[in-house]
Amino acid sequence: MIAGNRTINYLRISITDRCNFRCRYCVPSIPFRVIEHEKIARYEEILRIVRLGCDLGITKVRITGGEPFVRKDILSFLEQLCAIDRLKDISITTNGSLLNREKIEKLISLGIKRMNFSLDTLDPVKFEQITCRDRFHQVWNAIFTSHELGINPIKINAVILRGINDDEIEALTALTLEYPFHIRFIEYMPMGDSAVEKQQQVLSEEIKEKIESRFGTLQAFKKDPNDGPAKKFRIDGAKGIVGFITPISSHFCAECNRLRLTSRGTLRPCLLNNYEKNIINPLRNGASDDELKDIILSALARKPSFHGLTGSSVKGVPISHMTSIGG
Ligand code: 5AD
Ligand code: SF4
Repeated sequence: MIAGNRTINYLRISITDRCNFRCRYCVPSIPFRVIEHEKIARYEEILRIVRLGCDLGITKVRITGGEPFVRKDILSFLEQLCAIDRLKDISITTNGSLLNREKIEKLISLGIKRMNFSLDTLDPVKFEQITCRDRFHQVWNAIFTSHELGINPIKINAVILRGINDDEIEALTALTLEYPFHIRFIEYMPMGDSAVEKQQQVLSEEIKEKIESRFGTLQAFKKDPNDGPAKKFRIDGAKGIVGFITPISSHFCAECNRLRLTSRGTLRPCLLNNYEKNIINPLRNGASDDELKDIILSALARKPSFHGLTGSSVKGVPISHMTSIGG
């Protein structure tokens, strides 16, 4: 599938808006409702959309949430997803808190080789301040068990907030000295009604300076054509990679190869633009495969060439919060 001059081969699927964490940069500070069960796309509906996406050139999917592992029967869904031959790459973004050795072994047996975890701090007290949950050790164990069982690469996403975890940049980075992890610093995006103030945003340039003053100049690391938006670097002699994801300081829309399917069954061509095309209603109303493919293509035709994220909104419109889109 083509949008502008971009080839779209990557579908990100949010299978639930629910999460067992309450990360302050993600979850709205005002009361919010979760989506009713019957409005959530069922697994067989998602699988049909994925197969049609494959007909149109999708080869990569990522499962996100909320937290994907809070959804019932996720393992049997993943089993069916992994059985789709045309998908060359299936990965998951998780907070890791619900993963134990047995589940990780199962994921590996299904063919899942890569995993992204969210972890913003190595300090259990701060962890609880950020996520509102006392689950640091479960997450840490999930990351190391995945590593021990051969998941590779393991990418760790960290959002740095001034006054909260900006003193952990070096400690997180130091993990790359010993382990082949990718530590990726994601610039905080003001998404909806999160409790984080704009002034708490720490941009990549400042993070990079801190890293270089401790560990020396970062060496730019070459990107694969299939890589996501992270700019990759390595500390001299390190086993892992330091990445920066810079939606704010330098947008990467020109290289964006992805389409999103939300848990409500809408296609969202851009994370930072509220346009969504409903596909679940036509699907439930009996649309044919060709009709559904036309819906996918028409959603893509609306993929903007760049986003206008500045303060707390895109061109004055507040952006839906992350749990409902899936990051
Ligand atoms: N800004 C930047 N990153 C965010 N994430 C969630 N909310 C935000 C936000 N407002 C990140 C999480 C997770 C990924 C899917 O998105 O840390 O790793
Ligand atoms: Fe849950 Fe991830 Fe959002 Fe945290 S960032 S509340 S773990 S969906």
